Amino acid sequence: MTGAVALIVGSGAPRLELESEQRQTVETPYGAPSSPVSTLTIGGRRLRWLARHGLHHGIAPHEINYRANLWALHALGVTDCIAINAVGAIDPALLPGRLAVPRQLIDYTWGRAASFAPAGTVVHTDFTEPFDAALAARIAGAAERCGSPAVAGVYGVTQGPRLETAAEIDRLERDGCTMVGMTAMPEAVLAREIGIRYAVCAVAVNYAAGREPAAAPIHSQIERYLEEGLGRVAALLEPLVGSLPAGA
Ligand code: HPA
Repeated sequence: MTGAVALIVGSGAPRLELESEQRQTVETPYGAPSSPVSTLTIGGRRLRWLARHGLHHGIAPHEINYRANLWALHALGVTDCIAINAVGAIDPALLPGRLAVPRQLIDYTWGRAASFAPAGTVVHTDFTEPFDAALAARIAGAAERCGSPAVAGVYGVTQGPRLETAAEIDRLERDGCTMVGMTAMPEAVLAREIGIRYAVCAVAVNYAAGREPAAAPIHSQIERYLEEGLGRVAALLEPLVGSLPAGA
């Protein structure tokens, strides 16, 4: 049963202009989440949302307290989480400004706290399918209905905060990655551990390093395509939320 639904919003969060009612500061055993958890209403349904990089985008991907974020949402009764993540486009089928709903991931991150298991205990989480298939299908369905069909594929999660070299992107492509971003891990596995259904709506904001057809600095691409991509995300939220099963 779907209970509370949450959005974890990444780069460009302020541009989505989400309502911020009832901001709650949640204490967790892992410290403070990236931001207070706010409430917003979409299509008559109340959702929670959290800004992954903080309300002023001050927290780098490798410094995000992913455990505190997931713990806080779980403590507030969240059962389903839609993550919005900016990515670079590797597969030519994915154009900057467009959406992707990854069905698989490859984790290239290191040194991030990636489990809730206390020291001295071992948890081998089944992660064969890292994203919730039904939730991913609902995101893709809503995108399609809004005229923004989403590419499926594999999300390569890099450590950052620097962008990749062209050779690193060649390697990710050989590995089968469709897109590259820095934040789906350990977010996805922590959601799985704590029992939250989790899927990603990725926004391609640039051609991955070495993939741009004309010389266009990555940062100027991001400026341009983030706006377009987040416009597509804003348009799909209402149909997406309307397609979710009724709340518990
Ligand atoms: N690489 C890694 N993470 C990203 C990128 C990229 O090109 N664009 C947005 N997030």
